[in-house]
Amino acid sequence: MSVRMKLLCVTLALLLTANFCDGITVKQSPVLSVCREGDASVTLRCYHDVSSYYYMFWYRQRDNNMEMLTYSHGQGLWEIQPPFEKDVHYTMSRPELTRSTLEIKNLEVGDEAVYYCASSTAPSNQPAFFGNGTKLTVLDPNIKVTEPTVKVLAPSAKECEDRNKKKKKTLVCVATRYYPDHVTVFWQVNNVNRTEGAGTDNRALWDEDGLYSITSRLRVPAKEWHKPENRFTCNVSFYNGTDNIKVNDTISGDLQGQSGEEITTDYYVKSTQTAKLAYSIFIAKSTFYGLVVMVMIWKFQVSSLQI
Ligand SMILES: *[C@@H]1O[C@H](CO)[C@@H](O)[C@H](O)[C@H]1NC(C)=O
Ligand SMILES: *[C@@H]1O[C@H](CO)[C@@H](O)[C@H](O)[C@H]1NC(C)=O
Ligand SMILES: *[C@@H]1O[C@H](CO)[C@@H](O)[C@H](O)[C@H]1NC(C)=O
Ligand SMILES: *[C@@H]1O[C@H](CO)[C@@H](O)[C@H](O)[C@H]1NC(C)=O
Ligand SMILES: *[C@@H]1O[C@H](CO)[C@@H](O)[C@H](O)[C@H]1NC(C)=O
Repeated sequence: MSVRMKLLCVTLALLLTANFCDGITVKQSPVLSVCREGDASVTLRCYHDVSSYYYMFWYRQRDNNMEMLTYSHGQGLWEIQPPFEKDVHYTMSRPELTRSTLEIKNLEVGDEAVYYCASSTAPSNQPAFFGNGTKLTVLDPNIKVTEPTVKVLAPSAKECEDRNKKKKKTLVCVATRYYPDHVTVFWQVNNVNRTEGAGTDNRALWDEDGLYSITSRLRVPAKEWHKPENRFTCNVSFYNGTDNIKVNDTISGDLQGQSGEEITTDYYVKSTQTAKLAYSIFIAKSTFYGLVVMVMIWKFQVSSLQI
């Protein structure tokens, strides 16, 4: 096959898959759900828009582990996937080819997970299209519902320049020790939403008390940070199971670090490094001196033996 033919094949293949891939949308609701341990049931819903997708699946994602729970191969048909077949917890429904539900009964703390619905034209060997998931929280009666503490930290003194040689500063927002894990973090600069340069951890960290913490970062031009009149706010919206509670923290821009004359963290690190270097040289010198002395003693011993 000539190179040209090969290229054509590749292009065709790419075009075909591209066409194929934008075929189907899988929608899930609700996005978030909060239950209590012992609640009778919760129902998660799924909808897709192409009835030739006969197969529908429900997955559970917990601790980075994705497991298939149930699947359906047609209207009114469904099965529980091993090893969950003895688990009377899960009930699926498929009232129409494009609709499905997953019902979870007698909720336990262990049911807390993200549940995904997927659809495909075949049980395997064909791409499955996934919904965005439903995040289910099952409140643990042993952990107190706690709203987060929010703190914005100023940029560190020295930051690397980005690829375009533009100076940027990174502000960090930490929301700590909250339960349950239902927060959204967003940034505002002078009370205006800022999404550009903002990024929040995908997953919250969990400490031994069962409380969660999450970090978000905002990169802003250094010029913007160095204006003391600018106000940078981290807004955290926390869902306590019944209400959305807003918590926030704000810091003002700072001139410090702009001229480089102040004693900054940067200077401190440099001076400790200099001290370390001096100390290493001192050690090296003493070692060398020790060696010289040893060699001299050895030579002396050798020569005294020869005498
Ligand atoms: C799923 O999430 C993506 C990215 O956040 C979004 O663009 C898309 O609209 C969502 N899809 C549905 C069906 O909600
Ligand atoms: C700012 O973002 C928050 C959270 O995404 C949203 O609820 C709010 O409506 C936004 N405000 C404006 C003015 O866009
Ligand atoms: C975010 O917090 C700031 C500071 O308290 C507040 O003025 C603003 O209204 C909050 N934004 C939203 C969308 O809640
Ligand atoms: C959630 O917050 C609301 C308003 O602050 C409060 O009335 C309610 O008791 C809280 N719920 C829980 C479970 O703490
Ligand atoms: C922002 O936080 C302060 C205290 O930290 C609080 O008094 C204020 O109501 C909060 N503002 C909003 C809009 O949540």
